[in-house]
Amino acid sequence: MLAGIENITIKHLHEVPEHFDTVANWIYNQWWKKPGNTEEVVKAPLREHLQGKGFPATLIALDKGVPVGSVLLLESDGVDELPELTPWLAALYVAPQYRRQGVGPQLVQALEQHAAQLGFGQLYLVATDRVDFYLDLGWQVHLKLVGNTGITIMQKSPGRP
Ligand SMILES: CC(C)(COP(=O)(O)OP(=O)(O)OC[C@H]1O[C@@H](n2cnc3c(N)ncnc32)[C@H](O)[C@@H]1OP(=O)(O)O)[C@@H](O)C(=O)NCCC(=O)NCCS
Repeated sequence: MLAGIENITIKHLHEVPEHFDTVANWIYNQWWKKPGNTEEVVKAPLREHLQGKGFPATLIALDKGVPVGSVLLLESDGVDELPELTPWLAALYVAPQYRRQGVGPQLVQALEQHAAQLGFGQLYLVATDRVDFYLDLGWQVHLKLVGNTGITIMQKSPGRP
């Protein structure tokens, strides 16, 4: 059993803009690295998160100042079939050496609190193979999209247990 990391700090990316490249690199390598893509495909929209408007937003987890994970709050996560749903928790990522120590759940809960503070009554996410992870955090299956995508849309009312 691994011990959880103690004293994780969670900040908004606009408070620690020096970690912008690290977060963009994580997201690019995990989801966007394909022939023809450059990191700019991630960096261009992520720059808006540096403005400190609160929405869209990036939260980053720090262990003694070292970035260990991040998560985004977006207006849309590209689910064309469901344009009416907003906002979305997206791109939850924990650096491999920091996984299985509770950082991911802390990021999810911090994003839920932020969404609640912004007044959002619902929050959505796209789960591929991590449905159980989110069920454990109190999320519910909203619907399953069949066909090419085969993804599960999950939903939670932020601010409620
Ligand atoms: C998914 C992800 C964010 C989880 O973050 P995390 O910080 O590792 O989350 P947890 O600490 O809850 O650990 C997750 C797993 O470790 C287990 N775990 C948690 N704490 C543990 C501990 N102290 N000892 C042993 N196992 C533990 C959990 O049961 C869970 O098991 P699973 O991997 O079989 O589901 C991370 O694995 C990741 O970044 N993956 C790549 C990107 C990705 O898939 N993002 C999600 C998109 S939907």
